[in-house]
Amino acid sequence: MESKTLEDLVEGNKMYQLVTERLEVKNPSSTDLFERFDMEAELMALILDLYNEDDTDFPYEKLQNFPPDQVLSYLQASHKLYLSKKLPEIELTMEHFFSRYGESHPLLTSLTLFFNQYKNRLVAHIRMEEKEFFPFIKRLIAASKGELTSAEVNEILATKSIDDFNDHHDPIEDDLKEVSALIHTYSSKEETPLPFRVFLNQVELFELELRKHAIIEDHVLVPIAKELERTLKQK
Ligand SMILES: [Fe+2]
Ligand SMILES: [Fe+2]
Repeated sequence: MESKTLEDLVEGNKMYQLVTERLEVKNPSSTDLFERFDMEAELMALILDLYNEDDTDFPYEKLQNFPPDQVLSYLQASHKLYLSKKLPEIELTMEHFFSRYGESHPLLTSLTLFFNQYKNRLVAHIRMEEKEFFPFIKRLIAASKGELTSAEVNEILATKSIDDFNDHHDPIEDDLKEVSALIHTYSSKEETPLPFRVFLNQVELFELELRKHAIIEDHVLVPIAKELERTLKQK
């Protein structure tokens, strides 16, 4: 693939910003997109495509050829972005509207409540992945590189399995659809009031983001890890 420069990209390209806002700039002086973010060119391009395209016919297998460590660091950078930026931004919008319109729009009370509960579930989901799922995959990667003793490898394979995580990986983004349902029922007879439209927009973008994130976990990371696990078990 030809290397792209920052100038090649349309200024204000929303998807580009959506994807790169979580990445650390490694070479601020470089205008070469991929030197700048220290991520394989093709991986970055495929992730951008994933955000731009419909999920149904996306060639996930292509993403499975990349080093699992790179896929993992993208996912971890995303977790960080959700906790440090996305969730606080949505909360700020809620607080702002609540203090301004809380009395005229009683729905804001239930939305705030819903969102706080949702936030707790999402934080728990991310914490489980960061504390159990990802470290397990990192051990599988280390094992496949020959960095662990065979006793260590056997212990990992005996105590954990990718299937356990896979079975408990909820599509947490689906709950966010409830927000739009709540808002639409509330404002079905008249035009949706401004605070809800702004909030809805933020939530819908976040839902898209989480959906793509889960796709990378389920269709890229899990198959890669399963393959590592399978090969290690055969040894
Ligand atoms: Fe995640
Ligand atoms: Fe997840």
